[in-house]
Amino acid sequence: MPTSDGMISRKTVLKAAAALGAAPLLVGGGVALARDRIGNGEPLGFTPECHDGDAPTIEQTEGPYFKPNSPLRSSMVNDGPGTRLVVSGYVFGRACRPISGVLLDFWQADDGGNYDNSGYTFRGHQFTDANGAFRLDTIVPGLYPGRTRHIHVKLQAPGRPIVTTQLYFPGEPRNSTDTIYDARLLMNVRQNGQTREGSFDFVLNVPQTTPSPTPTPTATSTGGPTTPPGGTWAPGASYNAGDRVTYSGVSYTCLQAHTAMVGWEPPNVPALWQRS
Ligand SMILES: [Fe+2]
Repeated sequence: MPTSDGMISRKTVLKAAAALGAAPLLVGGGVALARDRIGNGEPLGFTPECHDGDAPTIEQTEGPYFKPNSPLRSSMVNDGPGTRLVVSGYVFGRACRPISGVLLDFWQADDGGNYDNSGYTFRGHQFTDANGAFRLDTIVPGLYPGRTRHIHVKLQAPGRPIVTTQLYFPGEPRNSTDTIYDARLLMNVRQNGQTREGSFDFVLNVPQTTPSPTPTPTATSTGGPTTPPGGTWAPGASYNAGDRVTYSGVSYTCLQAHTAMVGWEPPNVPALWQRS
């Protein structure tokens, strides 16, 4: 049985949510969040009530506008027009424990419904914090022909496959006609002054069968089995897009700036490293 070590109680999560200003939001019969399914203050166990019908967050098409090498930033706001939007939430594994260090790469249209395909406007990636939380400062994406309002995101837990999906807004007229739209990806959205606040909790298909907490990025390597055998890739090192390393005798090129950590060895994270 798991011990309380490494467990997180609903109270703890809600406290963290409150600290983020992202307490669960219920507007118009909004969608229940994964965090709401975490029991009643009891240490979290193997909780079928945590997940949404046992289903991780569903995947959706990437669409034509994804670009690698987005900047590391949690705010994509610029001087242009648009209604401010904050999207926040958590990333959980299958046992409903938050996962730290998950890469989230967001991209969206601007207020006019256009993607920046020459630069990186409204593109950015970040990592979940020690509580598995993320927060994106942006604007409400504009509409473009054929689609309802949406935000694209790719997620990758350390050492796990990339999950590509989209987030949607409740009450959008085009939700009923967009064939890609899926209500399981609806955010809870509320108005807070001039800002809209959206909440969504992702559930990734990451087994969490041991009571140990999720790995915490470390700045130094202690050697041992985590030391790359003969390679120059090293956990704790900062890499920029275009950097080249070797790992196990194979050369890789960095696709996105990040700080390396155990579990993100080049073969494990195609979002970060491409064999060169
Ligand atoms: Fe799109």
